[in-house]
Amino acid sequence: MSGDPYAFLRGEYVPLSEAKVGIMTHALHYGTGVFEGIRGNWNSQAGRIYIFRLREHYERLLQGSRLLMLDIPYSLEDLCNITVELVERSGFSEDVYIRPLAYKSAERVANLKLHELDSDFCLMAVPFGNYLGSDNLRCCTSSWRRVDDPMIPARFKISGIYVISILAKTEATMAGFDEAILLNQDGHVCEGSGENLFLVTDGKLYTPPIEDNVLPGITRSTVTQLAQTELGLEVIETRIDRSQIYIADECFLTGTAAHVTPVVEVDNRKVADGGVGPISAQIQKLYFDVVVGNVPKFLHWCTSATPRLVGV
Ligand SMILES: Cc1ncc(COP(=O)(O)O)c(C=O)c1O
Repeated sequence: MSGDPYAFLRGEYVPLSEAKVGIMTHALHYGTGVFEGIRGNWNSQAGRIYIFRLREHYERLLQGSRLLMLDIPYSLEDLCNITVELVERSGFSEDVYIRPLAYKSAERVANLKLHELDSDFCLMAVPFGNYLGSDNLRCCTSSWRRVDDPMIPARFKISGIYVISILAKTEATMAGFDEAILLNQDGHVCEGSGENLFLVTDGKLYTPPIEDNVLPGITRSTVTQLAQTELGLEVIETRIDRSQIYIADECFLTGTAAHVTPVVEVDNRKVADGGVGPISAQIQKLYFDVVVGNVPKFLHWCTSATPRLVGV
């Protein structure tokens, strides 16, 4: 590890090992938090980390905060600045995962009234490599279903909602698969436990719409834009039946942690011939170049953070 992990807690930068909360913290018991997963990609030639689509991540966090009445004393601008400062202080010269969390910090038990509970914001950054552990995913359809908007809105990254992702991921990996694909309440294809899903059929991309209870993924929107503007591909948001996966030409998952990762098998059935499809490979390569800051046209999506010497 090249640097020293730091955290931002109660308005201060502290070593990660000293960043602690009390056991009565509301969010610990009830999942009353909204978090983000942001990647900082190390560019060795530039000697800096490029934080990918930082503003968009905080826009989503602030949207989710409204639902949970998380009144945090930082603007979008403040949150971006705090993040760059934390990454620079941590001094890593490798890829990092940045985890902000806005949460109900009140140390009160048996209080279910959001409007009575104090909130806070904390942040940490740690080195991070390949999340899914495979470049050719074998997935299964989960027996768990994605929540519907009137249960917990799936469009925000609410801490408590992730119990479902965790059940699905655990079930899939214990059965020998790499990742789970969740269906929504009415049985249509939704997304992975932490990724959006795309199919390629006859040269066109298909992905479920937000109203089908998928997270409005930032990688999903990045891939959509790159596919349309750079590769001239049509991207269609539409309801997808489970059976469509089995007959698709290609399938891939997208997410901050997962990047763009091809799916080669679903429910023990090969996707097409079981190899990585040409469109998936093309999108994957372009996406990697963009997130690491190597495509000038998209450098505005990359916020620069230059590691400082530890402790400075
Ligand atoms: C359930 C779920 N879907 C999709 C995604 C992908 O979203 P993004 O591309 O913004 O990381 C994530 C990851 O945050 C997720 O947790």
